[in-house]
Amino acid sequence: MPDTITITDDRTGKSVTVPLTNGVFASSALRDLDPDLRMYDPAFLSTAACSSAITYLDGDAGILRYRGYPIEQLAEKSSYLEVAFLLLNGELPTSTQLDNWTDDVRHHTFIHENMRKRFVDGFHHDAHPMGMFVSAVAALGTFYDDAKDIFDPSSRDKQVLRLIAKMPTLAAMCHRFSVGLPFNYPSNQLSFPANFLNMMWKVGDYQVHPVLERAMEVLFILHADHEQNCGTTAMRVVGSSHADPYSACAAAAAALYGPLHGGANEAVVRMLEEIGSMDEVPAFIDSVKSGKGRLMGFGHRVYKHYDPRATIVKKTAYDVFEVTGKNPLLDVALKLEEVALHDDYFVSRKLYPNVDFYSGLIYQAMGFPVEMFTVLFAIPRTAGWLAHWVELLNDKEQKISRPRQNYIGADARDYVSLGLRG
Ligand code: ACO
Repeated sequence: MPDTITITDDRTGKSVTVPLTNGVFASSALRDLDPDLRMYDPAFLSTAACSSAITYLDGDAGILRYRGYPIEQLAEKSSYLEVAFLLLNGELPTSTQLDNWTDDVRHHTFIHENMRKRFVDGFHHDAHPMGMFVSAVAALGTFYDDAKDIFDPSSRDKQVLRLIAKMPTLAAMCHRFSVGLPFNYPSNQLSFPANFLNMMWKVGDYQVHPVLERAMEVLFILHADHEQNCGTTAMRVVGSSHADPYSACAAAAAALYGPLHGGANEAVVRMLEEIGSMDEVPAFIDSVKSGKGRLMGFGHRVYKHYDPRATIVKKTAYDVFEVTGKNPLLDVALKLEEVALHDDYFVSRKLYPNVDFYSGLIYQAMGFPVEMFTVLFAIPRTAGWLAHWVELLNDKEQKISRPRQNYIGADARDYVSLGLRG
């Protein structure tokens, strides 16, 4: 079978034959047929906007790999900082590289005192931590003159390091402010996840539990990248205008905030609380099927199979509950999953649990308020956003993102004075 595709313009009979690689063809070939032809693809269902060597995802087979490594192996054997290095550099670090990278990250965990004293103190006492976080990421860029030197590789590396290192500090700061607790400075002798948990929870002689530290690490690994999702696309679109990486990360975080994306973990727990008990599950499923809302934490644009991350999150949940006690909402979640997976509505639409279905239960059992859930997602996703940003800047085929439209508005017409309008 030839690896080409032929497109014929039936109006003119003209054809173009273009190579097909990995199921992808260059739509620029359409311009050879007619420069005014446009492909209409709302929400990019059939559009590959870039070539990328970072993450491989096969939604039908339920496969997710970072730089070729299966997510299951990374979640079992690796650390978040090792994975961040892998995403950014393409290879797993040697032990010297990992030591240096870990040391570098540790030396960039502090934030300028004015971020906390002047910037954060301006928020209302009950501000949503994710709203604070999105703004804080953008504001952070104003502290670094070199943030805009995006074509200087050493400056770029510096911003990458700062962003990855400071995200947990910003996240914990937003939480402590929202509950009126004093800020905890980073403790750089701790691991990346333990330092974050310590900044979140330390009051008196708090010690990070090793099982919870590992659970946080696994969740950070699972959330580190997911190819061209809504947030990463926002990162690439904003980055394509050559904005600084803090502004681009703030845009990506804002995209993540929505309940159809990273905000789903918060929405799942609110949904489970609303359902309340296992007995109410069938009625809830019926209401979803009749169009009253969605089953949050179910379905995915790309996965038409169980999300491989959801399998690992579910297992991690049981490890965490050994320490924290079982989250009472677990039974409702399990029942919901069981009913949905046997219901033709969900089966026929290939709707399975996604990464957010069980992650919220873990976060809640660990004591995180629901408002923090999307912030917990944004911390590790920063590595993925930045890996895509660097890849974009090095990609000679990329230009400023500027889609075209199908204009369906009014034809040209003359201005009508206010007094003459009917
Ligand atoms: N509950 C009920 N029905 C659903 C759900 C759901 N969670 N998801 C999709 N459907 C239905 C749609 O109503 C539609 O039905 P129809 O064909 O009868 O109209 C069909 O399944 C296809 O759904 P689309 O909306 O076209 O799928 P899309 O790819 O656009 O949406 C999305 C994907 C946004 C994730 C969707 O499944 C959803 O809203 N899920 C709930 C929110 C969620 O969990 N988001 C987190 C995703 S993971 C992440 O971002 C980290």
